[in-house]
Amino acid sequence: MSESSTKPILVTCGLPYANGKAHIGHLRTYVPADVFARSLRKEGRDVTFVCGSDAHGTPIVVNAEELGITPSELVEIYHKHFDETFKQLGVYFDAFGTTDDPENHNRTLDIVNRLIEKGYVYPKTIEIAYCPKCNRFLPDRYVEGTCPHCGEIARGDECDQGCGKHLEPGELRNPICTICGGPAEYRQQEHFFFKLSDFSDYLMDYLSNELGGTANARNYALGWVKQGLADWCITRNLEWGVKFPGHDDLVVYVWVDAPIGYIAFTEQWAAKAGDSWEKYWKNDGEIVHFIGGDIAYHHCIFWPAMLKGADYSVPTAVVASGMVKIEDKKFSKTRGNVVWVGEDYLDHGFHPDLLRYYLASYTSHTRELNFSWRVLQEKINSELVADLGNFLYRTMLFAFKNYGEVPAGELEPEVREEIEKALKEIKAAMAEYEFKRAVDSAMALASFGNTYFQSHEPWSLIKQDRAACGQVVYNCLHLAKALSLVFEPVLPQTMETAWEELGQEGDLHTILYAEALVPIKTGTKLVKPRILFTKLEDDRIEEMEEIANQRVKAANAKKTAGKDKEKEPAKSEGMGTAEDAKSEKAKLEKLKAKEPEQREILPTIEYEDFAKLDIRVGKVLLAEPIKKSKKLLRIEVDIGEENPRQLVAGMASYYTPEELVGKYVIVLVNLKPAKLCGVKSNGMMLAADDGIEIVTALTTDKEIKPGSRIR
Ligand code: 2FM
Ligand code: ZN
Repeated sequence: MSESSTKPILVTCGLPYANGKAHIGHLRTYVPADVFARSLRKEGRDVTFVCGSDAHGTPIVVNAEELGITPSELVEIYHKHFDETFKQLGVYFDAFGTTDDPENHNRTLDIVNRLIEKGYVYPKTIEIAYCPKCNRFLPDRYVEGTCPHCGEIARGDECDQGCGKHLEPGELRNPICTICGGPAEYRQQEHFFFKLSDFSDYLMDYLSNELGGTANARNYALGWVKQGLADWCITRNLEWGVKFPGHDDLVVYVWVDAPIGYIAFTEQWAAKAGDSWEKYWKNDGEIVHFIGGDIAYHHCIFWPAMLKGADYSVPTAVVASGMVKIEDKKFSKTRGNVVWVGEDYLDHGFHPDLLRYYLASYTSHTRELNFSWRVLQEKINSELVADLGNFLYRTMLFAFKNYGEVPAGELEPEVREEIEKALKEIKAAMAEYEFKRAVDSAMALASFGNTYFQSHEPWSLIKQDRAACGQVVYNCLHLAKALSLVFEPVLPQTMETAWEELGQEGDLHTILYAEALVPIKTGTKLVKPRILFTKLEDDRIEEMEEIANQRVKAANAKKTAGKDKEKEPAKSEGMGTAEDAKSEKAKLEKLKAKEPEQREILPTIEYEDFAKLDIRVGKVLLAEPIKKSKKLLRIEVDIGEENPRQLVAGMASYYTPEELVGKYVIVLVNLKPAKLCGVKSNGMMLAADDGIEIVTALTTDKEIKPGSRIR
């Protein structure tokens, strides 16, 4: 990407199949994309960041069939799951739709019709795998067999265990039906083809001279183009999907309508934002696709050819991430080498920013990323805690204790130069999609801060010359402000806290990098800082390693018992297990059962009834588990009285005690006291409950005096 470009830029992430839970393999692409989008915003670029769930294709149909639900119900379950998980991780899309949304059906029809009109689509009778026992045609993952290119076992549309090549219907040798496990045969049927071969010369030039992004994606695609491109079958015998125009028994192949989702989601964003989707897809705005390395073929060959053929703008860059390993072993859900974002990470109370940091800074984006709990511990403890956290905390604590505000001082040229250097390096690294290099430059600024603090010995200086010490502290506080800005793309939640504690105004997420060079204001009030990063102790890491070991053991035992042998090939590594979907389905059912309760508005009351409730803002001073209970926490809240109030709140499943401390919560203070698990609760902390899984404490939009009344 050109560092000097000022064009609007659309950033997208490969669409997750709404067919299984979020795992670290997903985040390996989405977190760096989010870091990139946030960083460009900080440079002042006009950025739109979209994604959505991939709702169509055989994996979804196969999985839904197995569960006895409709594909649409399955999509609803996992779409919600991905949407929530991304938000929890701080990955904020401007639009997150599904490829089954009407915008995508319409846009797909528009593009396919245009390709038909322009003569790029033709019918052809081909051999399609057919199962005589199940009495049906077998598209894509409904069939497996031997890859004609490398001889590995492959599924219908992709040799995912072998050479990685896209496979056309009829190409697999020795086809087997994945529904009944019986032999399939080939039968003739009419399908529709896209004249991909017409685009060979165009693609050769585009990939060699125009497409930006990472070389791994481009070179891989170029290799295939050089070998010669065959035309591409773009229809399938399925009910679920976008109907092929004029043929109700056919839908378009999922790899036609999935990338078109990028346009549809841009349209969804544009409608909401009152902006234009055409500035990207019809004009010269930039389009940057972040994808996993395994789908480079689709994004660098099929997709630009389709766009070009239908007169849309083509991608400016394709950025492909390297593979993920878990504890040095190949990522594999069936072998248990996986880290689920929810149950293996967030549910254990690990802060989202720590994982973001790991993913952005472990290695270069195109290289293999190994996830290991020990490495996470090492990185967090020696980098975030010892370097960044240490500098921010010692600076803010020293300043708060000795000055209570930003003291008088001037920004020293040496400090300014270090910040300028970091900003320049970060910008350059981002333009080259080198996220690790960007994070390293930001961390070098934190190290500079520590050296500056240490070498100026403010703890001695304060005793001799308060004004000279103020000058040192001023520069440290300014560095802390600059660090909040440069680390925001990677650590958005934690840096927001630092920003607030530094007394800085405005929304950190929308403030530009340039603000890092605007001297911090003398006299800005400071608060007692919180420790932003705490050491990951051995016992927590050992606990996680044990969970991972158990999972691998269970997967091995399952394999040995051969329980899932027959069905396994139908489930690619990309799919959720039936157990996952069952548990997600149970949640959906719970929601449906709860719906009347959630929907039903209680009978009208008089204002006098409401006025009887004394509801106040409280600040949580202390939170701790209650021994006898897994669900309850004992909380002490400042509600403006002389002594803090003790409450018992059923929050232990939703918050760690540390997360609650410092929060402004809403408390019903005149509720009759009650004892819960032997602990007295003198009031009730209010929370919102969606009836399934989310319970969130009510809080205030701004900091406000504890004891303030809710009216
Ligand atoms: O491979 C996958 O997981 C696909 N669901 C990615 C689709 S990306 C895009 F082209 F839509
Ligand atoms: Zn192969």
